[in-house]
Amino acid sequence: MAEKVLQIRDLHVTFDTPLGPLEAVRGVDIEVEAGELLGVVGESGSGKSVSFLATMGLLPTRARVTGSAILAGEELIGASPKKMRDVRGRLLSMIFQDPLSALNPVHRIGDQISEMLRSHQDLTHRESGKRAIELLDIVGIPQPADRARQYPHEFSGGMRQRVVIAIAIANNPKVLIADEPTTALDVTVQAQILEVIERVQARFGTAVVLITHDLGVIARVADRVNVMYAGRNVEQGPINSVFDHPSHPYTRGLLASLPRAGKQRLKPITGFPPNMLQPPRGCAFHPRCEFAAEICRGDLPELRQVDDLQSACVRAKELPRIGIFV
Ligand SMILES: Nc1ncnc2c1ncn2[C@@H]1O[C@H](COP(=O)(O)OP(=O)(O)OP(=O)(O)O)[C@@H](O)[C@H]1O
Ligand code: SF4
Ligand SMILES: [Mg+2]
Repeated sequence: MAEKVLQIRDLHVTFDTPLGPLEAVRGVDIEVEAGELLGVVGESGSGKSVSFLATMGLLPTRARVTGSAILAGEELIGASPKKMRDVRGRLLSMIFQDPLSALNPVHRIGDQISEMLRSHQDLTHRESGKRAIELLDIVGIPQPADRARQYPHEFSGGMRQRVVIAIAIANNPKVLIADEPTTALDVTVQAQILEVIERVQARFGTAVVLITHDLGVIARVADRVNVMYAGRNVEQGPINSVFDHPSHPYTRGLLASLPRAGKQRLKPITGFPPNMLQPPRGCAFHPRCEFAAEICRGDLPELRQVDDLQSACVRAKELPRIGIFV
C-alpha cells in the first residue's frame, strides 16, 4: 500500500455567523498518498478550500475546527501557531488563485524565495540566493538570475504563479496544496502552470492536492479524485474509475457537463447547492437527486466501498452504473 503522507479524519469546521453556526465542513476524511496528484472537486461552497485552510492552520480564530490531520506523523489540528509556522513551507505549502496577493510588492522576487529558504534551512545569503535562481529555473522562468532581481509587478500573471510555486516548493514540502491555481489565468497559461506543477511533482516526489472546478483538468492530471458536496466527501477513488463508472449521482451530474467521446450524454444537475446554515437532512444532495428515496433523508451517509470506489450514496449499489448506458 502507498505511504499516506497526509491523513485528514473526521474534520469539522464551523463558523459562527450573525445568522447562526455554519458548519462548512461536516466530517471530512481525505488521505493523500506520497507523490500522488489528488484532485478535489465540487461546486462552489462545498468546503474544498475551508478543509485545506483548516489543515494549514490558516482559518480565522472564530472558526471552530475539530478532528485530525496528521502530516508525517504530526497532528496539525489544534497545533500551536508557532508549530504551524514551522510546518507551513517546510512540510506543507499552499498556493492560491491570485499569485499577486501571495507576493510582497516591495521585495525582489529572488529575496522572497531566499527568505522562505532561510526561514526553514540554515543557509547563508549567498547559498539561498543561488538556490532561489535554481528554483526560478525549475519553474520555467527564463533568465532566472536577471529575473530574481526584479519585482512582482514586472512579471505577468502566469510568471507570478510560477514564482509562487517556486516559493511553495523551496523547502521541498511533502504536500503542495494548489487551490484553483490556474483559474485567474488564460487558457494557454493554465496549461503551462499545470505542467510546472506536474514537473515539480515528478522531480521532487511532492504529493499535490489540486482543488478545482475544472473536471477536464482533473481528468488530465490527477491520479485519484475526491468529490465534495455540502461539506462532505461524497465519492473518492482512482481517476479512471470515477470518470468511467461514477457511483454517486452528484459525480454523474458533474461529469454530465463534460463531453464524453462515445458515451451517451448524462443528465446534468438541476438546482443549487444547499444553504449551509440549514443543510438538508440525510444525504444533502437529495433535493436535487433524481434517485432520492425515503432512505436518503435518514442518517448522514458515510463513505462505503462500492467496487473500486468509495461512495456516500446509500443507493450506490442499486443504481444502474454508467457502464450500462454506453
Ligand atoms: N471565513 C468564513 N466565514 C463564514 N463562512 C465561511 C468562511 N469561509 C467560508 N465560509 C463558508 O464555508 C462554506 C465552504 O466554503 P469554501 O470556501 O470551502 O468552498 P469551496 O468549495 O472552496 O468553494 P469555491 O469553489 O467557491 O472556492 C461556504 O458556505 C462558505 O460560505
Ligand atoms: S443517497 Fe439518495 S439522494 Fe443521495 S445521492 Fe444517493 S440516491 Fe441520491
Ligand atoms: Mg475554494
